[in-house]
Parts: sequence; C-alpha cells; structure tokens
Amino acid sequence: MKSKQTLEAAPTVVPAHVGIIMDGNGRWATARRLPRAAGHRAGVKNITPVVSCALDYGVKCVTLYAFSSENKNRPEDEVNALVDLIRKRLKPMTRDLIKRGARIAFSGDTSYFPDDVRAIMRDVESENADGIAKTVNIALNYGGRAEIIRAAAMAARDGEVTQAAFEKHLYTAGLPDPDVIVRTGGEKRLSNFLLYQAAYSELFFTDTLWPDFDGAELTAMLKEFAMRHRRFGKV
Ligand code: FPP
Repeated sequence: MKSKQTLEAAPTVVPAHVGIIMDGNGRWATARRLPRAAGHRAGVKNITPVVSCALDYGVKCVTLYAFSSENKNRPEDEVNALVDLIRKRLKPMTRDLIKRGARIAFSGDTSYFPDDVRAIMRDVESENADGIAKTVNIALNYGGRAEIIRAAAMAARDGEVTQAAFEKHLYTAGLPDPDVIVRTGGEKRLSNFLLYQAAYSELFFTDTLWPDFDGAELTAMLKEFAMRHRRFGKV
C-alpha cells in the first residue's frame, strides 16, 4: 500500500540516496519520563513508515545511522539495550522493507556484535528481495573516519590509491553518494556519518525528534531538495 504522503503532489526531482541521522530518541523518552531505551524502541518503530515513504517516492537507497562506532561508549546498559533491539527488531523491521522490494545491506564493523546478532544480519541479507532496485543500508558500528582509513589501507594493499580503487573499498561501494542527508533532533552536524560520501550532499536539519519525524516532514524536505540548485563545484 502506498503511504498517504505519496498521494500528495510528489517532489519533481527525487534523490537517489537519502541518509538519515536518527537523533533524539533519548530526549523523546525523557520528555515522557520513560527510560532512554523506550525512545530507541519508538525510534525503531518509526523506521519502516519513513523509509517506505522515501521508497514510494522513488528514492533508490536509504542509509540509516543506527549505531555509530562512538555509541559503544555510552553507558553499558544503553549499549546493551541497543544491541538487544537490533537482536529483536531487525528481522521484523526489515521483513516489511524487503516486502516492498528492498534489499538490506549493512555498513560498518559488524564484527563488534555478538555472534547471534551477526547471524541475524546474515539472515536478513540473505532474505533480500530479487531483482533489486532499492537498498536499505543500515549503518551499524559505523564511523566515517574509520571507513576512510580502512578503505585507504585496502587500496594501498592492492597497490592502487586512486579514487576508483579507494571507493571500491568503502562500505557503500556500488551505492550512489547520498544526495540528501537528514538529521533529526536539532543538532547541525554530521557526527562521523558518511564523511567521504557526503562531499556534495544537501543537508537538512530539523528540531523534530526521530520518533516524531514523519512522511509529511520528509515530503517537505524532498520538495525543498527538488528546488535546490546543485553545482558540484561548477558555476
Ligand atoms: C540517537 O538518539 C539515536 C541512536 C543512538 C540510536 C538509533 C537507533 C535506532 C533508532 C534503532 C536501531 C535498531 C535497529 C533494529 C536498526 P539519542 O539517543 O542520541 O537521542 P538524544 O540525543 O535525545 O539523547
């Protein structure tokens, strides 16, 4: 079923790749006197409707910043709650997205996660829809700087440090660069997200906390994107 927003006038120029920094789960929970983990649970529930809305518009790839390499430094109980959420919710959440014709990919050093969680990730990747035109890329234990160093080292090991040889080793190899990066939760920074790939991304910031972000707000951003004049360094 098409989401409600797609019935409205659609944006005319649709980005190929949208990256989303899903910030504000903790504050959403605190405002409701709930534990922070409840905010992350609400955040997970919000992924499928928002990503579905983007896919319905014709966005080919959505990358979600779900667990940064720095998130590991949060208090142990919050890290455990996040890992447990991935353990319990990744499969049901991605099942809906696969039904919509998306393949699921992961970016980041997933060796950090316990074996059972990595097995779920492998499972989810193998359930991918056939004839794939769309990708939902989930950044887990991802850091942009570490990705750049890793890709540079791999290219050097291959004896070829050119742009093409380097890009082959990015977690996002084969995906277009993000045309749009959205950050919810009021902060205006990239926080180590897709640092190399974001060279020419159009940035969108909103005070809305991630669990409250919806298709209507995404639609407004995509419409604004269609109005922006992208020059890629040219005149
Ligand atoms: C930022 O909010 C959000 C995160 C650190 C985690 C985002 C993760 C998810 C939405 C779930 C991932 C799970 C799956 C299954 C993909 P914050 O905690 O920094 O919020 P705050 O700035 O209000 O404290």
